[in-house]
Formats: sequence, structure tokens, C-alpha cells
Amino acid sequence: MTEKGLFIVLDGPEGCGKTTQSNLLVEALQLSGFRVSKTFQPGGTELGSQVRHELLHGSHDLTPGQEAIYFTFDRALHIVTVVKPAIDSGITVVCDRFASATSAYQGYAGGLGTSTVEWLTDLATDGLLPNLLLVLDIDPAIGFLRKKGDTLDRIERKPTDFHQMVRQGFLYYAEQHPDFSEVIAADGTLAEVHDRVTQVANERLNLNLSVLGL
Ligand SMILES: Nc1ncnc2c1ncn2[C@@H]1O[C@H](COP(=O)(O)OP(=O)(O)O)[C@@H](O)[C@H]1O
Ligand SMILES: [Mg+2]
Repeated sequence: MTEKGLFIVLDGPEGCGKTTQSNLLVEALQLSGFRVSKTFQPGGTELGSQVRHELLHGSHDLTPGQEAIYFTFDRALHIVTVVKPAIDSGITVVCDRFASATSAYQGYAGGLGTSTVEWLTDLATDGLLPNLLLVLDIDPAIGFLRKKGDTLDRIERKPTDFHQMVRQGFLYYAEQHPDFSEVIAADGTLAEVHDRVTQVANERLNLNLSVLGL
């Protein structure tokens, strides 16, 4: 029987470095001999990219409940067609955003309630949880400074207070799921954050990854 791949998620507020650090973690895993697939939510499939477009760039107003259903549909599709097949064939999956984001944005900051989101998530994932969730914690004010000059999407354009609540929502999610979650301070340099990510991955997953020379 093939040994299963790991499922590692990076999540956190806007500009915390999810995409940057996922790419670096993928490189570190590959250098250590892992077969790795990098993916992201929302999206990661053809149909998912349409849902992503509607969520982030659509012109319709959506309630937090409607957003959560869109995200959850994308999650179900992505789990069934991308994540689970990869893990089952021994490929480690590094995913940029996951259920923690729906909990933080729609459940916590949007007021839908984290238990409602958890219920939807369980349906979508059939109980599949990450082996490790790294919450990259940052003050959204710093995150948005990093993204200065970028065109902001529908959710990024929400008010500052909302994004501060999102940050709290991620911390709350990690607190509620200590078995697989770790909060990492994401306000250092790219290399410092990469060191922390690698160290936590090594400790929590019993790996022996070396940090990249950045
Ligand atoms: N530790 C860091 N310090 C300064 N800038 C960073 C750091 N990590 C990422 N960046 C930059 O900040 C911006 C947002 O990073 P990104 O990885 O896209 O964040 P996210 O995917 O969480 O929104 C990018 O321009 C990226 O190059
Ligand atoms: Mg990103």
C-alpha cells in the first residue's frame, strides 16, 4: 500500500505571506525528496477558478452565508478531485488557504458563526483535516502595506475593522484545533518566516527539512 502524502495548509490574513511561504515550503520539501503538489483555495480546478472569479471579482453582493456556500462548494470539488487523489497516491499537498479561511472570514468576522462554517466544512471535506495548518499571523495593516500597489479584490476591499476581526478569527480557529494548528509570527523578513515555518513543520510532522539559503 502506498504511504499517504501529507496535507499541509498555510493560511492567515491578507499579505501574511501564504503564497510566498507555500512556494518556499514546497521547495524545501522537494529538496528533501518529497513528491509535492502545490495548490490553492478558492480555485485549484477549472470550475473552482470560475467560483473564485465570482467570489473575488464578481459584481453581485453576497451575504456571508452565500459566500460560505460558494467557498464550500469549491472546497468539496477541490478535495475530491485534487487533494484526496494526490494524498492517496503518496504526494504531499501544500495548500494556500483552506477551511480556516472560511471560518475566519465568513464565520467569525462575517458573523455567520464558526460552528455553521464547521458544519459546512465537514460536509465538503468528508472529515479530511490537514496534518498541519500554519496560521501566519500578522497585523493586517502590515499585510496591506506589503500589498501596496496591488489591485484589491472584493474581499480585500472590506474595511480595516473587518480584517482585524479576520485576524482574530484565525487565532480562534487555531485555538479550537490545537491538534493540527500552529500560529507563526509572520512579521519578520521572508527568510525569518521561512525558518519558523520549517522549524514548526519539522517539529510537528517529525521531518528533517533544511531551511533554504535565502
Ligand atoms: N516576510 C515578508 N516581508 C516583506 N514582504 C513580504 C514578506 N513575505 C511576503 N512579502 C511580500 O508581500 C506581498 C504579499 O505576500 P504574499 O505571499 O502574496 O501574501 P498572501 O499570499 O498571504 O497574500 C508580496 O509582494 C510578497 O513578495
Ligand atoms: Mg496569496
